[in-house]
Amino acid sequence: MIPPGDARVLITGVAGFAGSSLSKALLALGYSVTGLDVVAPGHAGLLRRELSNPGFHYVWKSIQDIRPDDVEGHSVVVHLAAQPDAPLAFESPRYTVMQNIEGTVALLEAVRQAECVSKLMFAGSGNEIGRALYLPMDEDHPLIPHNPYGFSKAAAEMALGAWRLAYGVPSIVMRSGVVVGPNMRREVFIFKWLWNALHGRPIVVEGGTQTRDLAFIDDVVRAWTLAVQAPVEDVVGQKFFVGSGQECPVDDLAQLCRATIGTNVPIEYVGYRPGEEGHREAFSVEKAKRVLGYVPEISPRQAVALTAEWVRTLC
Ligand SMILES: NC(=O)c1ccc[n+]([C@@H]2O[C@H](COP(=O)([O-])OP(=O)(O)OC[C@H]3O[C@@H](n4cnc5c(N)ncnc54)[C@H](O)[C@@H]3O)[C@@H](O)[C@H]2O)c1
Repeated sequence: MIPPGDARVLITGVAGFAGSSLSKALLALGYSVTGLDVVAPGHAGLLRRELSNPGFHYVWKSIQDIRPDDVEGHSVVVHLAAQPDAPLAFESPRYTVMQNIEGTVALLEAVRQAECVSKLMFAGSGNEIGRALYLPMDEDHPLIPHNPYGFSKAAAEMALGAWRLAYGVPSIVMRSGVVVGPNMRREVFIFKWLWNALHGRPIVVEGGTQTRDLAFIDDVVRAWTLAVQAPVEDVVGQKFFVGSGQECPVDDLAQLCRATIGTNVPIEYVGYRPGEEGHREAFSVEKAKRVLGYVPEISPRQAVALTAEWVRTLC
């Protein structure tokens, strides 16, 4: 175990959904956290409390410009900064490449030169794996990205592997499918469906028969904190799937969102996103369980219900 006193953690993309949630969890465990983000401190609303916590330090900066001295003093780096939206990646593939691939390479170079990091953890995505050859997918499944966002994350993950083999940069890959919960991004379909159902508007489903592995943020954050705490030799160079382990058809999720809100709004079906038809996703969490002690506690149904509670507070 790496005890809190020995690890100062740098989180990139700290002002977002996952970064702010992970910061809270690590601070509660006694870690010191440096958070880096392009969001101006005055607009980092999810970090309102953390910004005045003496154990938290905010760096307003892009990963594109990260330098070794930003990394110095940190034994763990958690890399969450990204362009995380698949729809935006269809419209802006080059911007997505710049953020997700070039940004990751800039961080890898800073970590390599700083020479103080024992773990560099990366937020991988189910979109990287893309086309399932078998289910549940395990960590040995090849990367077959099926959209520009998935490509960018897969390439970033491959860069981590290359920097580990070439320079010994100690990377760990933590992959998730759809992560939901309070403060989730409002561009993600679960949020949009709950919001629309609450406001009496139709739920619009792109496709319907594709499937997703849906996880609750508290489960995902617990897996990440377990990886931060784990012995270096158990996790460096490893990949882990962090999900619910359940395959959820998107159409069922739309109906679940409607039932959870308790309305009868119509569900409207439109075409699939490019590459999406036939997509299936369910992760084996056996390795995360065996190595990290991770067991998902919140089912997809409970995750949607807990997210709906939060969405109601926004109205
Ligand atoms: N949320 C999910 O369902 C999910 C699933 C799998 C993987 N992921 C990955 O997890 C990570 C976090 O996702 P999220 O949902 O919290 O997204 P988010 O958009 O809420 O957070 C990302 C943060 O990164 C910051 N950022 C973007 N570009 C930056 C740059 N150049 N320099 C510094 N900061 C920058 C943003 O300002 C934002 O605060 C991403 O890497 C994403 O690809 C998310």
